[in-house]
Amino acid sequence: MRCRKNQATLTAQEKARFVAAVLALKANGTYDQYVALHVNNMPSAHRAPAFFPWHREMLRRFELDLQAIDSSVTLPYWNWTVDNTPTSSIWNSDFMGGNGRPSDGKVMDGAFAFDNGNWPLFGGGFLARRFGLSAATLPSAMDLSNALGTTPYDVSPYNDGSSLAGFRNTLEGWRNGPQLHNRVHVWIGGSMSPSSSPNDPVFFLHHCFIDKCWADWQAMHPAESPYLPVTGAPAGHNLNDAMQPWAGQGQTITPASLVSHHALGYAYDTEGVCQPTLKLIDDGGLKPIVDTHITLKLVDDRPTLKIIDDGGTIKAVDDLGTIKTVDDLGGGTLKGFDDVKLPTFDIGMPAKPAADTIDPMAASGRPVGNAPFVLATPHHSMAWAETFPGAIERALAQLDQQLASLEAMAAELERRSKHGDMTDAERSHLDAVRREVVGIRDEREALARYLRK
Ligand code: CU
Ligand code: CU
Repeated sequence: MRCRKNQATLTAQEKARFVAAVLALKANGTYDQYVALHVNNMPSAHRAPAFFPWHREMLRRFELDLQAIDSSVTLPYWNWTVDNTPTSSIWNSDFMGGNGRPSDGKVMDGAFAFDNGNWPLFGGGFLARRFGLSAATLPSAMDLSNALGTTPYDVSPYNDGSSLAGFRNTLEGWRNGPQLHNRVHVWIGGSMSPSSSPNDPVFFLHHCFIDKCWADWQAMHPAESPYLPVTGAPAGHNLNDAMQPWAGQGQTITPASLVSHHALGYAYDTEGVCQPTLKLIDDGGLKPIVDTHITLKLVDDRPTLKIIDDGGTIKAVDDLGTIKTVDDLGGGTLKGFDDVKLPTFDIGMPAKPAADTIDPMAASGRPVGNAPFVLATPHHSMAWAETFPGAIERALAQLDQQLASLEAMAAELERRSKHGDMTDAERSHLDAVRREVVGIRDEREALARYLRK
């Protein structure tokens, strides 16, 4: 399972590798095929139920093409309810580049600026953006939360009617539009406006978040059909219809085959399956490890050894602050695999006899063997990837931000419930928000406790 991460949490190296892979796809001509695919299949992909699965297929193919160039890359997603200003880091010149210049909207910085020579658009011209010109603001957290609370998946006549109240039409943004998905295209403007919008690479980060929204919606409403309808929608938009253009190429790809993103081989960093897991394999015997959120400690009766991952090297530190290399930990071979950041993260070292072997398992009389042990590490891949100890402060700040927006959401929902105009879906959403607030408070407390130590 590969994990797609929030772009705001990517390291400088992860951003650079993503940009480099996109440029390589552009250079070999593959990138423009995705722009053409989108331009040529607008009715198969929009204003009807297959909006989510069609883009899921497009993005998955794009991601596999990127991974053929650099296997460490996954598609990042952009949560535009949080990173919602022209100065958000997504627009820095090391990533997407910024807004266009006032005269003609031409983007002047970053790898995708036309004048830098690597980004001629499909159909000609230069990459343009005009932030906020046609829509003043990006969708808010409340807009998104209301859309995610909407059921069922879609309703007859399964089109883009401005009063059509299913989840798909709401999140696509036609209901009292332009909202949500559509509004993001409109807010960016320039090259993101026409059907050739994949000309702007931010298209893929935007649609990755839209894809995550479908996955989140499914998880929030387990009793709902994840896709509708079975019949009654335009051709290509019913559950078991083969979608164009792939059907025309002899491939049977249906909405049903795209309902489960896990079945396609990826997950999102907010899902349990993506919480970083560090597996330490010690040939010399088992060592118990406790998880204190950011730091993994090898526990023994002597100094406590902390394993610190600062994004490149893994170091061990004991209570006295002495940095030790992994081979000071004891005999045998110690290897680490972080299956979130990179497929394999190997800190292997030559075996050598230990001067002071840490073997509390043996001391405790519990079985000692060569079986690998596994543990779940912090809930924050971001924190995990950053240098200790700044990571804790950053993780706290991010939790505070999340708490504030969830609490605002809960307050608004509670206000509505007092007025008695709440739907069942909104009520169950309020419960989910409250649970999330409690969970994040606990997590925050655990981190804060660690900081006080
Ligand atoms: Cu589209
Ligand atoms: Cu779109």
